[in-house]
Amino acid sequence: MKGLNLNHTYAELLAQAQEACSNAYAPYSGYKVGAAVLWASGRITTGSNVENASFGLTICAERNAIFQGTAKGERKISALAVAVLTEEIPSPCGACRQVIREFCTDCDIFLINGRGETKESSLKKLLPDSFGPEFLDIDV
Ligand code: THU
Repeated sequence: MKGLNLNHTYAELLAQAQEACSNAYAPYSGYKVGAAVLWASGRITTGSNVENASFGLTICAERNAIFQGTAKGERKISALAVAVLTEEIPSPCGACRQVIREFCTDCDIFLINGRGETKESSLKKLLPDSFGPEFLDIDV
């Protein structure tokens, strides 16, 4: 992937996010997003955004990918990749940042535009001073 020297697993993660992006259902916004989550177990789950004629029912790619994993029993995120087709590097919405936070205090986040240009970020950068399960004495 351009600009980064990624190990095999991360390269696969990014490729799966791009594939999920191509399967996005975004007839209203036209903004297709794909996400892939690498869990601590080594499993990768994917999701794309799914829009609805009742606009508020739309789910983002990131949350979709995370919920695919939790349904398999996964609880710890190691890394996440988000891919779009447009020139602008994507940026997960606030709601998705908080949902990512539920399953990691910090994790690698890769943001990929339509040219395959990739920016490496992290949850700590995207959501500093965050609130999470530890505040409620819950271990995830
Ligand atoms: N979207 C995502 O899938 N992830 C984000 O982090 C930002 C927004 C989707 C929701 C909607 O289908 C479209 O992008 C435009 O907001």
